[in-house]
Amino acid sequence: MQWTSLNTVREKYLSFFESKGHLRLPSYPLIPQNDKSLLLINSGMAPMKKFFTGEVEPPRRRVTTCQKCIRTPDFERVGHTARHGTFFEMLGNFSFGDYFKEQAIPWAWEFLTEVMEIPSDLLWPSVYENDDEAYNIWKDKIGVPEKHIVRLGKEDNFWEHGPGPCGPCTEIYFDRGEKYGCGRPDCKPGCDCDRYMEIWNNVFSQFNNDGKGNYTELVQKNIDTGMGLERLACVMQGVDNMFEVDTIRKILDRVCEISGKTYGNDKDNDISIRVITDHTRSAMFMIADGVLPSNEGRGYVLRRIIRRACRHGKLLGIGRAFMTDTVAVAIGESCGAYPELSEERDYVLTVLAIVE
Ligand code: GLY
Repeated sequence: MQWTSLNTVREKYLSFFESKGHLRLPSYPLIPQNDKSLLLINSGMAPMKKFFTGEVEPPRRRVTTCQKCIRTPDFERVGHTARHGTFFEMLGNFSFGDYFKEQAIPWAWEFLTEVMEIPSDLLWPSVYENDDEAYNIWKDKIGVPEKHIVRLGKEDNFWEHGPGPCGPCTEIYFDRGEKYGCGRPDCKPGCDCDRYMEIWNNVFSQFNNDGKGNYTELVQKNIDTGMGLERLACVMQGVDNMFEVDTIRKILDRVCEISGKTYGNDKDNDISIRVITDHTRSAMFMIADGVLPSNEGRGYVLRRIIRRACRHGKLLGIGRAFMTDTVAVAIGESCGAYPELSEERDYVLTVLAIVE
């Protein structure tokens, strides 16, 4: 297992699934198209709901993407922990009524153990409590020892995010080692300590949730994968959290340069440094996708993000506007994968220069 940059992990994942017959699509914009149930795209599958339900014909039955995502329920916690962030990239391989468990599970395993070369004894699959089919694929087809396969309940192994396609899932956890654990003899995936980190989620999308708790069987069985790019990059770089991942660390280092502070020396400064680092990424991608700060909806989310970043800039003693500076670094790190950042560079920087 070799140190691998975040940009390389992304490329390896997408080309691996292209080699398995998937069509690579660019990330959909953060602004949902024809979906009033969401303010901002929050998962890889969200822009493709109608492919899962069968309402719209997909360009191919196998698709792979790296999707820009924003989640803000933990907005106020961002910075206070190294775990929370508002922006992340979600890798996914999707089957719209094509392959199902028998193929999705071996491909996940092949990618992690052969392409990423993660030692198999550090990987622990979990399955939905009564999903014997997935359990047996892990046990018999992949050969994972039974003591490494965990059955978990609805809270952990049934994926849904608001209305739309959902279903039971199988996840793969990476064992970060005893030093992250609680020390309990029965510690394993599902434990609330930090030892086992979920890095892969294969959802067997079989149901549609109407948003009122009614589930109907979908006409087709689908695969919806959620593979957090920053999390896998942490594993591949042997770092604790996403703020230490190469491309994100470059933004963080710029915040330190601008503020004259050192990361890791002072708890309060670290909070502010992480807030600005995370919010730089969200604001950049939102503005590039056409969101403008305003008093309502997604514009209000963006306004709060920019305001909070600026407030933390003041706490760090930065006596000037700085977001154009941190965003310029972030554009440099991500424009290879997201050409819209180069195309909209001047626009993004102009908007920030006006509103900051
Ligand atoms: N849609 C599956 C996930 O985001 O984990």
